[in-house]
Amino acid sequence: MIDFHAHILPRIDDGSQSVEESIAMLESMKAQGIKKVIATPHFLANHESVSSFVERRNASLERLRETMPDLPEIAPGAEVKYYDGISHLPDLKKLRIENSKLLLLEMPFSAWSEYTVKEVADIAGRGKITLVLAHIERYLPMQSSAVLYRLLEHGVLFQSNASFFLSCFTRHKALRMLKNHQIHFLGSDAHNMTDRAPNTAKAVAIIQKKCGEAFADDFITYGNELFLQHTLT
Ligand SMILES: [Fe+2]
Repeated sequence: MIDFHAHILPRIDDGSQSVEESIAMLESMKAQGIKKVIATPHFLANHESVSSFVERRNASLERLRETMPDLPEIAPGAEVKYYDGISHLPDLKKLRIENSKLLLLEMPFSAWSEYTVKEVADIAGRGKITLVLAHIERYLPMQSSAVLYRLLEHGVLFQSNASFFLSCFTRHKALRMLKNHQIHFLGSDAHNMTDRAPNTAKAVAIIQKKCGEAFADDFITYGNELFLQHTLT
């Protein structure tokens, strides 16, 4: 299984603050059945250039790999913060997950303007990048379902955090979206081993309990295959 969203790299953002903490997070993920983790440190275009970010991220990953025993595979990516005009960012493509067309995009926590929706659809329409909206559940209260359907029709994919399935207030909605194929990837959005620890296994257990083991297995297989489909050859 893939953990699609994790702040696993040491000392690069508000996630792991040491190699030791990263290894503890990865060990927890391994125990939860995670085989591949997408490392998604925050990227903010108003703070840093793409090349500087990629350099820092790769150095952090190398530090971790030097000491890493038999742990899940890590694919470097980014959690890219959306801003109006992001489609013009030089090197946006370099923020895709390594060897894939997938790019994790954090959207504004407000009602999206027509400009924003068109810009996201435009990036998706170019065919070079497949956008995956990070923690889709956080935007739901502020968007119409028509906007979400529009983006799905343009090939935009949705990632949900495991926590969407864990809260009794949101679980019903999470399961409904899953059954309607509106959640494509699951992520822990783990930042540490305390208040934002890896937790995908708990969400999988909920899906198994509410939808059956075969459904949960199919969802995991679907995520793996979707990732492979977007791998660059
Ligand atoms: Fe995140």
